[in-house]
Amino acid sequence: MRDSGNFKLQQFYLKSSGTVAKTQQVYFWQSVGGTVTILRDVGKDWDMSIRIIGTGSALPAHQVTNEDLAKLVDTSDEWIRERTGIGCRRISTGETVVSLAADACRNALEDGGMEASGVELLLVATCTPERGIPCAACQVQDRLGAQNAVAFDLNAACAGFLFALHTACAYVEAGIYRNALVVGAEVLSKIVDWSDRSTCVLFGDGAGAVLVEHCREGGILGYVQHSDGARGDVLKCDSRAIQNPYISSRMEVPFVQMDGREVFAFAVRKVPASIEEALEKSRIQAAEVDLFVLHQANRRILEGIARRLGVDLERFAMNLDQVGNMSSAAIPVLLDELNREGRLKRGMTLVLAGFGAGLTYGACVMQW
Ligand code: ACO
Repeated sequence: MRDSGNFKLQQFYLKSSGTVAKTQQVYFWQSVGGTVTILRDVGKDWDMSIRIIGTGSALPAHQVTNEDLAKLVDTSDEWIRERTGIGCRRISTGETVVSLAADACRNALEDGGMEASGVELLLVATCTPERGIPCAACQVQDRLGAQNAVAFDLNAACAGFLFALHTACAYVEAGIYRNALVVGAEVLSKIVDWSDRSTCVLFGDGAGAVLVEHCREGGILGYVQHSDGARGDVLKCDSRAIQNPYISSRMEVPFVQMDGREVFAFAVRKVPASIEEALEKSRIQAAEVDLFVLHQANRRILEGIARRLGVDLERFAMNLDQVGNMSSAAIPVLLDELNREGRLKRGMTLVLAGFGAGLTYGACVMQW
């Protein structure tokens, strides 16, 4: 008897005359030439997956409340709470993407019981690295002593952590690596215009990391991701301008620019659709999901998504009132918080969903 390994689900459907399994734990067998092959119904084409075995996070020490911001710009605690659900956030007074990411990774490694030297892949999702080169992931690798890891960055803005998690999953599915540290880390405070009340109240700094390893049971059951570059102007921040001896240009300091209403409309329309797509791929009903762990952009966006999915808001984990919108760091920081509070039990079904500049969005269904 042997496990089906890389047996494709589509082939199974053809051979089983249209039988469809209801959950991914259901096993089927078929006997061919004396060999019994166990076929497992999974949402992905291949039955290798990844599961999270450790989480970690790191936040800057300095806390900034809504009242603090009201001293900088014409705003109020009432306006910010009502429109966004945010009460305070952490802002760097010296912490960097690399220092926060490295601290989050150390915590995740300790939680997962692995030495840094055992890490095979190190992905840092960030849109606010300190350096263009080398990438933040290589700097984190150096700080951790994770000398055996392949390390590189990935930028998909607020969907960055999720896209990095999917990338790790794809590498593991392909049999290239057996484990990975996946990090979301941002110091957004350096690209925010602190005189613009419509954006500076939204963001916070921080980093979260998960340690994942290969598995054949549970883990990520299915994932989807999408990019819509044609709508990139809705939320943007320029990088360095072209400056060389052959053109005359004046360097302006670039800041985040956002059409808040467009971002809102995009999120409440596209995110529920991508969650439904991921659920369908995983053969899981929304009613079977224990917890929705979404990008923490705005409480009203999460309310809109829950309404569209027909899911009670109580099943949506939230910490944005304490930390604001930390872009790619939002989901892993929230996962770490839930994990350390003992709210994540093995076997629970989670939906993760990220969305942001690009526009980028995606979702995955996983068994904890
Ligand atoms: N304090 C007080 N008043 C403010 C503030 C503030 N911080 N910011 C804007 N206003 C004012 C505006 O100037 C405007 O005043 P006016 O009517 O006199 O012109 C008024 O409030 C309404 O402004 P709107 O932009 O229409 O406010 P809206 O209700 O759309 O709320 C918000 C703005 C919260 C940004 C909303 O559009 C939103 O939630 N968008 C989603 C964007 C988001 O969450 N982005 C996060 C980054 S992207 C991501 O993570 C996916």
